[in-house]
Formats: sequence, C-alpha cells, structure tokens
Amino acid sequence: MSHLQHIRQQFPVLERTINGKPLIYLDNAATSQKPLQVIETEAKYYRELNANVHRGIHTLSQLATEEMEAARRKVQQFINAAHDYEVIFTKGTTEGINLVAYALSNGNLIRKGDEIIVSYLEHHSNIVPWQMLCERTGAILKVIPIDENGILQLDFLEENLSEKTKIVSFNYVSNALGIINPVKEMIARIRKQSDALILMDGAQAVPHFKTDVQDLDCDLFVFSGHKMYAPTGTGILYGKERILEMLPPFHGGGEMIATCSFTGTTYAGLPFKFEAGTPNIAGNISLGAAVDFMNSIGHEALQEHENKLLNYAQSKLLEIDNLKIYGENAPRTGVVSFNLLNAGISSDVGMILDKLGIAVRTGHHCTQPIMDFFNIAGTVRASFAIYNTLEEIDILAEGIRKAQKMLA
Ligand code: ALA
Repeated sequence: MSHLQHIRQQFPVLERTINGKPLIYLDNAATSQKPLQVIETEAKYYRELNANVHRGIHTLSQLATEEMEAARRKVQQFINAAHDYEVIFTKGTTEGINLVAYALSNGNLIRKGDEIIVSYLEHHSNIVPWQMLCERTGAILKVIPIDENGILQLDFLEENLSEKTKIVSFNYVSNALGIINPVKEMIARIRKQSDALILMDGAQAVPHFKTDVQDLDCDLFVFSGHKMYAPTGTGILYGKERILEMLPPFHGGGEMIATCSFTGTTYAGLPFKFEAGTPNIAGNISLGAAVDFMNSIGHEALQEHENKLLNYAQSKLLEIDNLKIYGENAPRTGVVSFNLLNAGISSDVGMILDKLGIAVRTGHHCTQPIMDFFNIAGTVRASFAIYNTLEEIDILAEGIRKAQKMLA
C-alpha cells in the first residue's frame, strides 16, 4: 500500500459515495476531513474522561485537565510559542479576532481618530470586527490594496503607517485565492515605522506549512482547528505574554476570575483570563490529536504533496479554454479559485461537480471585497489537503469540461 493510500485510510469519510460516485473532497479550505486519531480522541473523552476542567478535586476532573493542558502544550510547540500560557483556546479564528477587537475597546486602547489597517485579501472575519470596533470608538479603517494578480501593494504601508495606527491585521494566506502574503516583509515594514500591534490570521496557513510565531514576530496570531484536521468549534489565539497581559478580558464569567465579589472582581492570569466558561474540552484535547497527526506526516512531506497537487491542478485546469484562475501568478498554497468565463455562474459549476461526487466551494467565500475587485459574484474554489490525489484532479478537470459543455 502506498503512503498516500495509508493516509487516506485514516479518513473514514473518504470511503463514502456522493450521488453514486466516490467522494472527491476538494473543499478543505472550508474545513478539512478528520482522521481516526482525532475522531477516536473525541469519542474517548466522552467515553472515559468526561469531567469539567480546572474545577474539580476529583480524579476525572484532574485527568481531563491534564489532557487539555497537554493539548495546549502540543499547540505551543506546533507554533513555537515561548510559553504555554500564551496559547488561548477559542472556538475559532473569528472568535479570536473578535476577542482582540473587543479587548482593545474594553481597555480603551483604541480611541476616536486612531487607525486600523487590514488588507483587501481578508475574510469578512478580519474586516467586520474592525468595522464594528470603528463604530464603537470612532477609529478609522484603512485597507492595503491589491493588484490584478491579487498581490498586496505594500507601499501603502509606508504611505499610511503613523503614530495613529494602532493595529495592523492581515492573513498569512488568503482563503479565497490561496495567495501566500509576504508576511515577514510586511512585519519588518510595520515595525520599522510604527508601534502598531500586529495580528495575523493564520487559518489558511497552519494546515499547510510550519508556522513559527516567534520567528514571524507577530504580536497576535489566530487560527481554527477544523481546517487542520481537528474538530469544529476549536481554535487558538496566540499572543505575546506582554500583549496578552495588556489586553483586558473579552468574556466575563467562571474560570477567568481570581476573586469575585459584589464590590469587585479580579481576573485570573494567563491563559485563563481569556477562557471564561466551560471550554470545548473534547475539542481542545482532539486539537492536540490533530497536531500529533500533522507531526506524524511532517511539515515537509505535507507541503511537498500539496505543492504537487497545486501545480498539477493549475496546469490541468489551464488546459481548459475560457477558464480563468484568480491569483494565477501569485505564490499560493493548495487553492485554485477559478471561473468558466463562457459558462454559467460558479454555483452552476459547483452543482454539476457535486453530481459527479466532487465537493468544491462556490460563491464569494466570505470575501466580497475581493470579488468586487475582480468584478465577479464568486468563484469555484478547489482546495487541497494531504489526502487528495492527482487522479482526483484529473476527475475534477473532466468534470469542469463536462460542466462547460452543459452550461455554455
Ligand atoms: N473560511 C472558510 C472558507 O474559506 C469557511 O471556506
């Protein structure tokens, strides 16, 4: 059995059929499938371990706490954070960004006339929380533009960074186009000219390549578990200790207090200050199992395989007449976002592919500004993971040709 077949066997859902055809799952940028290791870890928690964490003197509670804290340390190593308490469990990227945006206004750290910079390539989750923050505070949102290849125009930073800039927030990899942004260069430019906080959305990066938050030197880094083989409802906010200490809490409740009385409350230290309420214990432990899974594959092997899929898909799809790939000339992860220029809209193509058992995402991918820039309503997006094969891409290409014939 080949190594790839061995990997595929670990994902039970890949054995199923859709509309009578073997499932070809190419919607990994939306959410990845889960390996047995993760599924079994989640089930084992409920079968053998279920108890609340950090609260109980009893054995089961202590065991659950140990497992969850072990998962936190696995994530710490996975992203090379300096300390485990710099790793905050969240329910996903969106919550991580909202947490930071609310903490900044709760702490009066953003005021009227301050500036926030994001990029044109952001997911709505890295736009709307900042717009809401601007509404709350009177701050101003500025946007790094892109060119026709989807590449960020970084001179904007020199022209716009000032002492008014309080936070610059951008993704490592665009979810809609798969473009890998020049984040180290961006961080160097920002640091040179400003004391602004730097927040990175790593949701589409951590499933694909090694991320080292200390090497990046970002202040805050958020990502989701479910795109990296872990359960939905899991995610991480990483922050440098100094920054997390400075930010006030987002949610109030149990777990996040040191003392609570009607005359006043004091907050717990890191990471618990940001983890009010009972967390997703099973999910967080299973996120640790997903880290183990990714480590067992190895980042180099993962990246090599996904680059092979990307290059093959790009060449096969470009053989199709009237097919346009957005961000074709930009450095990318395993994402091909395209349209058939003479045949239907993206959802028509997606529906025909679904009839063939092929799962892709269509529409605006929660990035309407990018779609507006290209003057389109949406794209068809095929996105790859470790278990995808070159044969699946051949079937995708055939499916697209079929859709073109039906829709033209
Ligand atoms: N952000 C996810 C995507 O790009 C849901 O599909």
